[in-house]
Amino acid sequence: MDKDWLVTGKNITFHHQLGKQKIKVLDGLNLKISKGEIICLRGPSGSGKSTLLNILGLIEPFQDGQLTFMGQNFSLISEQQKNKIRRYQLGFIFQDFQLIDVLSARENVEWFLARQGIKDNVRREIALENLAKVGLEDQIDKKPVEMSGGQRQRIAIARALAKKPSFILADEPTASLDQKTGKQIMSILSALKHQSGVSMIIASHDEMVAEYVDRIITLTDGKITDDQLISR
Ligand SMILES: Nc1ncnc2c1ncn2[C@@H]1O[C@H](COP(=O)(O)OP(=O)(O)OP(=O)(O)O)[C@@H](O)[C@H]1O
Ligand SMILES: [Mg+2]
Repeated sequence: MDKDWLVTGKNITFHHQLGKQKIKVLDGLNLKISKGEIICLRGPSGSGKSTLLNILGLIEPFQDGQLTFMGQNFSLISEQQKNKIRRYQLGFIFQDFQLIDVLSARENVEWFLARQGIKDNVRREIALENLAKVGLEDQIDKKPVEMSGGQRQRIAIARALAKKPSFILADEPTASLDQKTGKQIMSILSALKHQSGVSMIIASHDEMVAEYVDRIITLTDGKITDDQLISR
């Protein structure tokens, strides 16, 4: 039953069209993600990791196959319903943080909440609560340029968490960080998973990331070539 899974992908197929040439990226991919699962997605450069995250995050439409989220089939729901899921259920974290330089840490999270339609009297409270979860309670008035890479990534995590997503998608979240800071970021993410039961998929080349996850999926040439559950 699809309802027991947070996300299912069946025979997902995606290609880029360059003139008359089709560049195949995902080749009939099958995937099921449980609630509260934290997954590392790895594979060589160009294997389709970012493409798969964009498809699962409803950013990139795919050409063939079936994708469900909380039992809802994406091929059967309206653009409005998809926007709602993107807006309220999905959280994104990127390698380059994607913060607004002129705003403070607190304002970055608040601005994002404003875009989600959250009323201004509760925005500040939610921003402070989530910045505290990532250990930035003393840094809320600093702008990203006055902060370290690890602190900037923590703002981005607080921003993603602020809307209480069911599913976090992270693309190379530790790639711009040194090893020690990367480990701090991963321990924050894995602790959050235990606290809030959110599922996460983290595309990463970083071997260290695998130490913090429940499952490692390897993508090679657009196909899952290994899918390993990690018991701890
Ligand atoms: N706009 C595009 N047009 C044509 N091909 C593209 C386009 N964007 C990406 N590709 C191709 O799609 C394939 C998958 O790219 P993707 O970014 O998903 O790989 P990745 O696994 O995330 O790689 P990396 O580890 O380098 O981030 C690559 O072969 C890439 O060249
Ligand atoms: Mg990528």
